[in-house]
Amino acid sequence: MADAYILGIESSCDETAAAVVRSGEQLISNVVASQIATHQPYGGVVPELASREHLRAIVPVVRQALAEARHSYESVDAIAVTQGPGLAGALLVGISYAKALAFALGKPLIAVNHLEGHIHAVLLEERQKGNHDLQFPVLALVVSGGHTHLYQAAQNADSWTYENIGHTRDDAAGEAFDKVAKLLALGYPGGPVIDRLAPYGDPYAVKFPPAQIKHRDRRGRHDNRAVDPHDERPRFDFSYSGIKTAILRYVESNEMHGAIEVRRKALANIAKPTFEDYLANCDKQSLDLVASFQRAIVEDLAGKTLTAAEAHNVATLFVTGGVAANAELRATFEREAAQQGLPVFFPSRKLSTDNAAMIAAAAYPKYLAKDFAPMNFSAEAGMVLK
Ligand code: KG4
Ligand code: ZN
Repeated sequence: MADAYILGIESSCDETAAAVVRSGEQLISNVVASQIATHQPYGGVVPELASREHLRAIVPVVRQALAEARHSYESVDAIAVTQGPGLAGALLVGISYAKALAFALGKPLIAVNHLEGHIHAVLLEERQKGNHDLQFPVLALVVSGGHTHLYQAAQNADSWTYENIGHTRDDAAGEAFDKVAKLLALGYPGGPVIDRLAPYGDPYAVKFPPAQIKHRDRRGRHDNRAVDPHDERPRFDFSYSGIKTAILRYVESNEMHGAIEVRRKALANIAKPTFEDYLANCDKQSLDLVASFQRAIVEDLAGKTLTAAEAHNVATLFVTGGVAANAELRATFEREAAQQGLPVFFPSRKLSTDNAAMIAAAAYPKYLAKDFAPMNFSAEAGMVLK
């Protein structure tokens, strides 16, 4: 099979991205235009602004990805684009542009699930390193601003299938990082700054109760057994809204609001606060709270994922998505997976957060299988991965 150069386009949330990947195994170019500065004043992504920024960025970002790859519109073999899940208006910008390119150039169009993309970010980089024989079954934790999902992944010839064996019941782990950062006046997005502040605090200073997840049994009753109501197999669900409330209570009962407002005002006077600015404006109590919060989230993610890996007898673990960039999360997974004799793989930090290389990589098996999208396909904001 000759090499296939796929142009990937991603616009599901707040990054406009384009990339060229060769045959799912070599990253040729990878361009990401972040909208952080646009959404920062609101402490979260504003969907209308996201669509507008994608419209502005999509053409130059694709041009740059082609130029850096020394490719032209004509020389790529297929166009791949994120279909969902994500913000409908944001997805439509990427999809409309990908359709127009595919139509005008007469190239195949491939629709990709964003979550499958996060999983293929790991595969792309392992192949690029020369690691071509991963052991199956694979358990993948996709942990980002919108998802905390566990998938068992299998490969049959060129096609991949995914079975969801657990997900968050409420907030995603990245969402918890972002909301806690907002509450503590630590900017947006919260993950990267909390990641860097946490080593300055005491991770054992504040104790949080473990998340209680109630499972419904076949007769509709609630109990605490983690059993899937449909097939009696164990499920591994997550919940992060409780810890957010616990932090709010801690802030109230320890009268931290005054200190938080002082920090908010001080940082508002700095045009582009650096990490050093955040650190200089944090007292010990805030640093301890942040460190304890991160430890609780990381322990919960690693504990549940490794229990799931054992219960499903998997051979390999992937941890991917924006939160997989977290240093403590990586170290904890590496340590605990090694104790269990389980190989664990992460994408590089650059490919952990949203990008289009992962979309082009996930499109390659579909390209081989000629699984092309019709011109009338549309965005699927709540798209599930199967
Ligand atoms: O995968 P991603 O770029 O977008 C989604 O698909 O959601 O993930 C973004 C999320 C944000 O919630 C952000 O705070 C979090 O990933 N994040 C991190 C880190 N870097 C990004 N969380 C913890 N530690 C980090 N270093
Ligand atoms: Zn993502």
